[in-house]
Amino acid sequence: MKQPRVARLIVAPIARIASLARVGSLARAASIAWMLFCGVSHSQDSLASRGEYLAHLGDCVACHTRQDGERFAGGFALPTPFGTLYSPNITPDDATGIGMWTATEFYQMLHTGRSRDGTLLYPAMPFPAYTKITREDSDAIFAYLRTLKPISRANRPNELRFPYNNRSLMFGWRTLYFTEGTFVPIPGRSAEFNRGAYLVQGLGHCASCHSTINALGGSSEDSAFAGGLIPLQNWYAPSLTSNQESGLGNWSVTDIASLLKGGASMRGAVFGPMAAVTHNSLQYLTNPDATAMAVYLKSLLESKASAARASERARGSAATLAAGRSVYEHYCAACHRSDGKGMPPAYPPLAGNPSIEMELSVNPLRMVLNGGYPPETADNPRPYGMPPFAQVLSDEEVAAVVTYIRTSWGNYGAAVTRREANAMRAAPLLD
Ligand code: HEC
Ligand code: HEC
Ligand code: HEC
Repeated sequence: MKQPRVARLIVAPIARIASLARVGSLARAASIAWMLFCGVSHSQDSLASRGEYLAHLGDCVACHTRQDGERFAGGFALPTPFGTLYSPNITPDDATGIGMWTATEFYQMLHTGRSRDGTLLYPAMPFPAYTKITREDSDAIFAYLRTLKPISRANRPNELRFPYNNRSLMFGWRTLYFTEGTFVPIPGRSAEFNRGAYLVQGLGHCASCHSTINALGGSSEDSAFAGGLIPLQNWYAPSLTSNQESGLGNWSVTDIASLLKGGASMRGAVFGPMAAVTHNSLQYLTNPDATAMAVYLKSLLESKASAARASERARGSAATLAAGRSVYEHYCAACHRSDGKGMPPAYPPLAGNPSIEMELSVNPLRMVLNGGYPPETADNPRPYGMPPFAQVLSDEEVAAVVTYIRTSWGNYGAAVTRREANAMRAAPLLD
């Protein structure tokens, strides 16, 4: 999912020009120079550059670009419990892309989840969230997509098992889980809050990972943002609502905003699939939009489906904790420190870090086994990494050290077992 460095070097400055263009006349002059350079009219260009920014926030590129393939030319494989979907080509090629589409047809697709010819789309395309995108923003994204180089690449048919290969099944799914919607600002809340809500619920499609995905791939309003295990990937996207689990409630707006945009903050760093989201999408947020999202996230109330109370959790035996401590001192304390405070933002703190305390232990287990890097972003251009320990530590040692970090320094996580540690060795490495 990572974009080639060259593409990043080209895209990032354009996005930055686009965001600067809103703030000052100097930048405006630069952007006019850019438009003259591109030979396009003012209004078209500003619509398309706004569309580019919005397409970043929608993370269209992550799904519509295959590894080492042309941007937006599709063919990216999305494994689901029902088989594999291959994303379509959305470059403006007439025969194989969306060259023949009109802005209205494009909006209808985002809004209704039906393709131009009426085909019901699978919700792997996050239309259940995109339905809230305004017509204006849809037109801007469409204008941006029209500026791409048309790539002729025929769509690869999906490989879904019976009965999921039958699109009419989507009628039932849609009845249960999908309602066309428009974003309605919540009265009495600030413009900033409502901007954040619009981005998180709509274009950002955050709930597509951060909510419980049921057997049919639907997520209901009730469980929106309540946290969910991403099928087949074995990464857990924590609740964004429950203070108990994600702890965002006691983070400052600045910490949340810098985590979203920079990938690292004084409170923790992003990893796994969230690192890709930051890298492909959220790092392009303007500061006001990052703050707006943070303001909205912070306001989400503790969810009904919140994790078990800390006191009900298993804490691990004295022997396990002693073993865990010794592994920790030997292999981890150099970066995360004996007191678990780390050296943020380079080495995240583990004490009071919600991403390791949550009920499901898959994320800390996978971090210890596989290590990782936070994403490279404009705010954090040279991230520090963590080495993998899968070859170094036995299942017992992994379980012991993860139990230790989940329950020390006042952390309220539960003990993990050797079996849980072992199961994560087989988890796929793709993020
Ligand atoms: C999480 C992955 C994902 C993201 C993010 C995503 N798409 Fe898609 N998109 C898909 C898949 C998969 C399909 C095909 C669904 C199907 O076959 O029913 C699709 C279908 C489409 C189609 C219909 C094409 C056709 O020929 O019918 C368009 C247009 C499209 N996406 C545009 C976008 C845009 C614009 C964005 C960003 C705002 C976006 N997509 C973000 C996965 C994604
Ligand atoms: C592709 C799936 C996916 C999408 C889409 C996604 N996330 Fe995440 N997110 C995750 C996973 C997995 C984690 C756990 C790893 C981590 O903490 O970095 C996570 C972690 C987080 C965290 C850190 C929580 C903590 O306790 O440390 C925040 C905040 C967050 N996501 C916000 C968002 C927002 C806002 C959006 C929408 C713009 C979003 N995410 C979209 C998968 C996703
Ligand atoms: C060389 C320094 C280094 C060592 C040694 C190290 N880590 Fe890390 N650790 C990091 C960095 C950097 C990150 C952020 C990685 C990312 O975001 O992908 C991290 C992230 C984590 C996380 C996820 C928390 C978060 O918010 O990102 C956990 C859990 C963790 N480390 C546990 C451990 C344990 C347990 C050990 C010892 C077995 C260990 N680490 C050894 C540098 C290190």
